Amino acid sequence: MLNSPRNIVVGVSGGIAAYKACMLVRNLKEYGDDVRVVPTPNALKFVGAATFEALSGHPVSTEVFDAVDQVQHVRVGQEADLIVIAPATADLMARIVAGRADDLLTATILVATCPVVIAPAMHTEMWNNPAMVANVKTLRERGFVVLEPAHGRLTGKDSGPGRMLEPDQIADLARTALEGVDYSYSLKGLKVVISAGGTQENIDPVRFIGNRSSGRQGFALADIAAHRGADVTIVAGATEALETPPGANIVKVQSTREMEQAVYEAAQDADVVIMAAAVADFRPDSEAQSKLKKGTSDDSLSTIHLVENPDILVGLVEKRRSGELSETTTLVGFAAETGDDATTPLEYGRKKLQKKGCDLLMVNEVAGGRVFGESTNRGWLLGSDGSETVVEDGSKHLVAAQIMDAVEEFRV
Ligand code: CTP
Repeated sequence: MLNSPRNIVVGVSGGIAAYKACMLVRNLKEYGDDVRVVPTPNALKFVGAATFEALSGHPVSTEVFDAVDQVQHVRVGQEADLIVIAPATADLMARIVAGRADDLLTATILVATCPVVIAPAMHTEMWNNPAMVANVKTLRERGFVVLEPAHGRLTGKDSGPGRMLEPDQIADLARTALEGVDYSYSLKGLKVVISAGGTQENIDPVRFIGNRSSGRQGFALADIAAHRGADVTIVAGATEALETPPGANIVKVQSTREMEQAVYEAAQDADVVIMAAAVADFRPDSEAQSKLKKGTSDDSLSTIHLVENPDILVGLVEKRRSGELSETTTLVGFAAETGDDATTPLEYGRKKLQKKGCDLLMVNEVAGGRVFGESTNRGWLLGSDGSETVVEDGSKHLVAAQIMDAVEEFRV
């Protein structure tokens, strides 16, 4: 997937989440990129230099005066294609705002012209402190990508916003910054509803009809939308164990009818609804209350009678047409297509856009096990205005960013 290895600098400052930086370095190296770690002196109180050296394959220095002959404080920043700071403490962020260059990491940041992604980690009180709020605002205005911290347990008993995102989430978002994805707060004030994962229809208390959707594409969309400032609600069916994007609300559902109800409720005041879920089109006409047994005289297990489920996306389009939803609500669908001898996935996609009547349709090619459960995706983005954009093979976050770009363009 990568053309040539890029130079990524992982900056680590002195917080307990420094141990998670080790996983981040491993993740970022997975695609063959060259990763160098620049810790602050305090970071080394949490994780030893030897760990970072072994993981990155590069020597580690913290001071401008280490290896002076190599002019590291200038060279590391100049050569970087991406800097990811994880964890970023309140102190480090304040020093970046002030333009300090009192250790190798801050000097590197001052020199760099590449994207800089900051993953904060601090106690909730510190994150909410007016000085911190002002620092985050300043950093974002200056083009730094300051990721939202997760809500959750912090060290000690407290819990709230401030926990560092998980290394995989940081890596996914950082890679999109490397590809030039925009993280300006362009969706601030908008409510975005995203359905994700597969719905399941019970046959009896132990069996169900389901599908292979992992929910990753929907969660990636939620991650991008949340980091562009949107108020995000995810209506999640069955998904892999995925991290909730920071600040997003999650409504868990199982069946298509539960998803229908949850999506319609959330859509009432939404600006954008994206149906990324793999919705079960059929359900058994009745759900047995006790486990169905083999070898019994009735045919209830060998012959399951199916009835059609409601089409949630078509329902949304009708609600908008009838005025139940605002006419400014943007409706986005997905189409998972294998194609067949007579029809290509793209042709099926075009027909589906017509049939569903939504504004945008992301057509995925799913033949041969592609897409479901994988970390990459590709396809075509079709618009109701006749536009057709090829979405190149890329991470689900990268695809999500292209879909959100198209949504924003559509709403102009
Ligand atoms: N969808 C929906 N409700 C359903 C089925 C699908 O809202 N009962 C939505 C999906 O979330 C997706 C889009 O419609 O955004 C297309 O889903 P897909 O499964 O590709 O299409 P179907 O309408 O089920 O058509 P088919 O299975 O015949 O290809």
